[in-house]
Amino acid sequence: MSADTHNKVGTTGLLGWIDARFPLTKMMREHVTEYYAPKNFNFWYYFGSLALVVLILQIVSGIFLTMNYKPSAEGAFASVEYIMRDVDWGWLIRYMHSTGASAFFIVVYLHMFRGLIYGSYKTPRELLWIFGMLIYLCLMAEAFMGYLLPWGNMSYWGAQVITSLFGAIPYVGTSLLEWIRGDYYISDITLNRFFALHVIALPLALVFLVVAHILALHEVGSNNPDGVEIKKNKGADGKPLDGIPFHPYYTVKDLMGFVAFAIVFALIVFFAPTVGGYFLEAANFDPANRLQTPEHIAPVWYFTPYYAILRAIPDKLFGVIGMGAGVLIFFFLPWLDRSPVKSIRYRGGLYKTFVAIFVVSFLMLGYLGLNPATTTNTYLSRLFSLLYFGFFLLMPWYTKADKTRPVPDRVTFDAH
Ligand code: HEM
Repeated sequence: MSADTHNKVGTTGLLGWIDARFPLTKMMREHVTEYYAPKNFNFWYYFGSLALVVLILQIVSGIFLTMNYKPSAEGAFASVEYIMRDVDWGWLIRYMHSTGASAFFIVVYLHMFRGLIYGSYKTPRELLWIFGMLIYLCLMAEAFMGYLLPWGNMSYWGAQVITSLFGAIPYVGTSLLEWIRGDYYISDITLNRFFALHVIALPLALVFLVVAHILALHEVGSNNPDGVEIKKNKGADGKPLDGIPFHPYYTVKDLMGFVAFAIVFALIVFFAPTVGGYFLEAANFDPANRLQTPEHIAPVWYFTPYYAILRAIPDKLFGVIGMGAGVLIFFFLPWLDRSPVKSIRYRGGLYKTFVAIFVVSFLMLGYLGLNPATTTNTYLSRLFSLLYFGFFLLMPWYTKADKTRPVPDRVTFDAH
């Protein structure tokens, strides 16, 4: 069968019946079998499809948890214990969901880092990046609200500390805080509304944003480790010379990434689901207690870089502004980066040094946010917050001053 006949819209049988009524084959062609992706994708390109896998995992395990979870201050903690001890496979479903939350952030942070080093946010992919950032914000809200649901002591106090930050906003702070909590403190009412947002509103927004993210990607085409636009070099058939059909080439590659991910994921779920208190904190095995704060309140690891920025600034309002700016500043990357090249491969030492500074400061802030705010830690947090913001704010200067190398016309690729 020639490629042409193979790709024809079905005219007979069930497929023909469907295609006459719904663009099934057309969509499959546009987004899967005839979506031409650059042939030089590497390790970093596993994480987009893995983020999709984790999204599905969280939605499915979440549905099963909801079947036995009780969203009330009276019943929540006991219902989670019930899921862990009495519900058939309940422990597995719960550990998959709790491990999935951390896995989501690991995968998304690596996915974002790939975008950073290959300049995937630059023209024409700005909107794709903005959709990604909106996903990231939704994901943070989703994780924060989900964390209150088991009604453990860290759930309670974590929510208490983070919601109280809204109280620092001048004039409207107090009213806003009561509006968010629905009460004067974190209560049954707060738990109930966080449940509604966690199980329906935010997942719906996430799914919608992921669809928009992928549509935007397919509109402009994927970037790649060389930062070369493959659409600029098309063959006589109109197909990019450096492109290969997503299916079967990348479906197979992504399947391998999925297997590797599933092995690591299963090892954690079965052998170390709390990961030494990093994925599930010890204080959350005690029920919420309004009269007893945990010894040291810290968010889960994925929020700690921003938490360290918050604590580094002595004034509460400025701390909140600093923390918010630490997240939102990523939105502006497409306009802060003035380099004529996209990929780190063709950038100079200046840019590479700043990326190294960014990585070290993000990791150090994450570490400092997990630990008590001693004097030394606070000074270190200030130093790394400055370096962190320096990476972004000095970007227009150093990306222009940097000595770049010529970018090849075609992607570079060594067949294995
Ligand atoms: C639920 C979360 C997410 C899902 C399911 C998702 C999914 C995907 C998929 C399937 C791809 C194509 C495959 C790939 O290039 O790896 C992709 C590409 C991309 N994503 Fe995401 N993504 C998510 C979050 C984010 C976030 C938080 C950002 C950044 C703020 C982001 C930025 C990008 C960019 C820039 C590309 C194009 C990369 C390139 O072509 O080099 N994504 N995403």
